[in-house]
Amino acid sequence: MATTHNVTMSATPRDAGRRGAGEARAQEPAIEVNGLTKRYGAFEALRGVDLAVPRGALFGLVGPNGAGKSTLIKALVGALRPSGGGVRVLGLDPLRERAAVRRQLGYMPQSPALYEDLSARDNVAFFGGAHGVPDLRRRVEEVLAFTDLAARAGDGVATFSGGMKRRVSLAAALIHRPPVLFLDEPTAAVDPALRARFWDLFRSLAASGVTLFISTHLMDEALLCDRIAILRRGRIIAADTPRGLLERGRTRLTVRRGGVDEARTIGGRPEDLAAALHPYGLAREIGAVAVEAESLETVILGLIGEE
Ligand SMILES: Nc1ncnc2c1ncn2[C@@H]1O[C@H](COP(=O)(O)OP(=O)(O)O)[C@@H](O)[C@H]1O
Ligand SMILES: [Mg+2]
Repeated sequence: MATTHNVTMSATPRDAGRRGAGEARAQEPAIEVNGLTKRYGAFEALRGVDLAVPRGALFGLVGPNGAGKSTLIKALVGALRPSGGGVRVLGLDPLRERAAVRRQLGYMPQSPALYEDLSARDNVAFFGGAHGVPDLRRRVEEVLAFTDLAARAGDGVATFSGGMKRRVSLAAALIHRPPVLFLDEPTAAVDPALRARFWDLFRSLAASGVTLFISTHLMDEALLCDRIAILRRGRIIAADTPRGLLERGRTRLTVRRGGVDEARTIGGRPEDLAAALHPYGLAREIGAVAVEAESLETVILGLIGEE
């Protein structure tokens, strides 16, 4: 299913990257954050955040509640004025070049902002109309199909479950084919089947060239991202690939030699495992080898707890 949609979703972002943008611009990151700070009164919600997200990446911003994820996303979509530092989206300043940035980004807020009295279709059409989307009726049906809403498209959003409202919110964020998408905890309080479906959609959008910036407090979801930044109390404490983070974890190695289990803890890199196994050779007396690596969730919670 996802591959079919790739075709329909792909045209704009890639073309937008080439068209008029020039080589240099195509090479620069889709999203840049430099020394960003945000104070709410005396409270510092963001304390100097630096980030760069390459074009076409599925980027995960992971952090516990209150870490500053929504604050960072609001700064990126131009919904909030930073106290210090700056952000750029596709090379543009979201506050000073608001209209240009709005055309190029889709934003799914943490709480769906929808018209409860309107149908799913009319909600999506409303956002499309605001963006001046060409061939709107066809495009509305396309995003409703992409988000599995076609069957209930005519029903009032007030009758929808939380998961369905999130799908409408995603459809609204996609209506104008934005090359950059900001999704603030899109899968919070969503059942596991729909969560898996959401991640399929995100991956297929990334495959078609869309840059996705997704926040989550669910650490295991980070595994599905190309790159992850861990935000804790307004600071990025780690930025890496899922594999890179996993390699910071520990691995429990158990080797049964002559019927006796010898267990120990080694590092999480493949090289650590090879080195730990070298002394054994693999003689007949080795009856079993078990390797238990830490989950990404455990590694991330460890990093968050360490600070
Ligand atoms: N408008 C606001 N006024 C005062 N404090 C705020 C405001 N918005 C957020 N905060 C505080 O800033 C911190 C980060 O909030 P937020 O960005 O919503 O975190 P997250 O999205 O990671 O849960 C929290 O401690 C929160 O209470
Ligand atoms: Mg939030």
